[in-house]
Amino acid sequence: MGSIKQHYSTLLLLLVIAIAASFLNAGEAFPLSSHFYGHSCPRALDIVRSVVARAVDREPRMAASLLRLHFHDCFVKGCDASLLLDSNGPIASEKGSKANKNSARGFEVIDEIKAALETECPGTVSCADILALAARDSTVLAGGPDWEVALGRRDSLDASLSGSNNNIPAPNNTLQAIVTKFKLQGLDIVDLVALSGGHTIGLSRCTSFRQRLYDGHTDSLEEGYAWQLRSRCPPSGGDDNLFPLDLVSPARFDNSYYKNLVAGKGLLNSDQVLFTRSPETSALVRLYADDGGLFFDHFAKAMIKMGNISPLTGDHGEIRKNCRRIN
Ligand code: HEM
Ligand SMILES: *[C@@H]1O[C@H](CO)[C@@H](O)[C@H](O)[C@H]1NC(C)=O
Repeated sequence: MGSIKQHYSTLLLLLVIAIAASFLNAGEAFPLSSHFYGHSCPRALDIVRSVVARAVDREPRMAASLLRLHFHDCFVKGCDASLLLDSNGPIASEKGSKANKNSARGFEVIDEIKAALETECPGTVSCADILALAARDSTVLAGGPDWEVALGRRDSLDASLSGSNNNIPAPNNTLQAIVTKFKLQGLDIVDLVALSGGHTIGLSRCTSFRQRLYDGHTDSLEEGYAWQLRSRCPPSGGDDNLFPLDLVSPARFDNSYYKNLVAGKGLLNSDQVLFTRSPETSALVRLYADDGGLFFDHFAKAMIKMGNISPLTGDHGEIRKNCRRIN
């Protein structure tokens, strides 16, 4: 009798340990918190904001570039600054992936922020958190919504070039493929349509939208707009010619992106399909086109959700001294 009881309590103890361990592994024991640097680096948020503000002042497009960096970081092994590592030894940089090569930019601004933070409080603020804060500050500076950034992410010890190639959607992906890639990150249809509104700012190279101009499937492209695009993006040559993702207000974070889609003036095929390929996504496009406040609200919520993708916490990863290499 006593031995059964003993077995039972040993089993119970093991169960408790297993549950606790699974929480630790999931990082649940260390949830992100907006007050994470409250004692260790109280001026961290002000420092990030002021460096971002200076950079955007120099070049308004930088707001778009910094917002995109956080997205490209979070979709590959979670928001762990893996994107920022340069190639070195066994590390093949994500900067060389299809989505990032000759395209992702703003790394020098991240370096500038990191240098300022290392002076203020060495070895304290992670590069992954810098990306999350810079994305929020950029959105606000461009006229978009504000939100509280949860903090406490740590930096990865490696990168994933294949993850960057496979997980980040391409502009010629089908809507179904894009939906699947978002789902893989725990993001739903509302998150997808709201986050795509990030294309209310910034520029695209001709090479990202040429295919749809000449493949004979231009039915969803408004005629005059198509002419405008073809003149800027010929059948061959001019690969790096730039065109605004939102032709109405390229540097203003507003809901004109959605109004453009309704008018057949989405720049990327991946933008336009949100309006043409599914009743569920097109209903959301109309909703945001009509109600900028609702777009702002959903965008902020989706950014928080994206920022929560698989962060490294506790004693996982490290706090890099230089965002381009592991310590
Ligand atoms: C839904 C799937 C998405 C696809 C297929 C996509 C694709 C692209 C492409 C092809 C470009 C132009 C790159 C170039 O030609 O150099 C671009 C730019 C941009 N993307 Fe996305 N994107 C997506 C989602 C997002 C999300 C979720 C965000 C942020 C919330 C975002 C933010 C941006 C910004 C701000 C730019 C302009 C960057 C700059 O001017 O430097 N994108 N995207
Ligand atoms: C999408 O674009 C890439 C890069 O331009 C190209 O290699 C690929 O064949 C395209 N895919 C489709 C399905 O058109």
